Amino acid sequence: MPPICIIGSIHVDFIIRVPRIPSIGETILGEGFEIHPGGKGANQCIGVARLGVRASLVSRVGNDFLADMALKNLKTEDNVVLDYVSTVEGVHTGVAFILVDSSGDNIIAVAPGADMYVSRSDVDKVLKSIHGFKALLVQLEIPLDTVAYALEKFHEKDVLTILNPAPAVVLHESIYKYVDVLTPNSTELGILVGLDIGSLDDVIHASRKLLKAGVRIAVVTTLGANGAVVVTRNRVVHLPAFKVKAIDTTGAGDAFNAGLAVALTEGMGIIDAVLFANAVAALSTTKMGAQEGLPRRDDVEDFIKRHGLS
Ligand code: RIB
Repeated sequence: MPPICIIGSIHVDFIIRVPRIPSIGETILGEGFEIHPGGKGANQCIGVARLGVRASLVSRVGNDFLADMALKNLKTEDNVVLDYVSTVEGVHTGVAFILVDSSGDNIIAVAPGADMYVSRSDVDKVLKSIHGFKALLVQLEIPLDTVAYALEKFHEKDVLTILNPAPAVVLHESIYKYVDVLTPNSTELGILVGLDIGSLDDVIHASRKLLKAGVRIAVVTTLGANGAVVVTRNRVVHLPAFKVKAIDTTGAGDAFNAGLAVALTEGMGIIDAVLFANAVAALSTTKMGAQEGLPRRDDVEDFIKRHGLS
């Protein structure tokens, strides 16, 4: 199976389970504390690998005790290539502080540390040594300059490019012509276009703006328990989410992106690919920790069958 390249962050996630998300200025008592490997780049890489596709991760960690914790799952997962993960001296490995409430919803703050050293030369290195990538998956926890460069270089090589604009910032319009599929959640979509997104019509309007700005194939907006909306130049499709008992939604977006990349590189059309990605995302929420719940291929296929969709 031809490989997928993931360029992004590697973190240690410090998670406190809370009965509810506290207000500003409020202190509340948590109900549990866990430490898990995370980072959107690492999560998406493991997501792809568990679905049976070779995943090459381009990333950086610090020269500290956190790096071992952050790399734990990546090192033991089949299909993961870590040759393009390097160590930066004098900087900490990226960390995230996460609160997860009793419905499984979360808020996250990231201190990126070594993530911010992922550079153009890292992109050049991987493209020089590995040929035949089928897709690039990239997010916004690394320098924007590197993201833009990677999208342009992979696009030049006819590789399918997927930009997961998380965490969102306003992007220069020139980036969109190198993005085949853009995958914001509704908050991120609002930030990208500078509008409040409150309804399905808002999602469609904002997605069309981004297509007009240059996104090549589709804007796929994830809506958590409300599924995902696919907007292309000639179609709008709202696919509902699969119903599961969510324990922790941290990393559901990463699971979705991994599923989408795998499905698209296997030749599924965008709608079937989003259905597959929705199943991967739903399953990922049934365990605590962004990587723990990332499902394997068989589990996803069984799950889709049990829902009468194949
Ligand atoms: O998408 C979830 C991830 O966001 C967490 O693992 C955390 O590290 C942050 O990067």
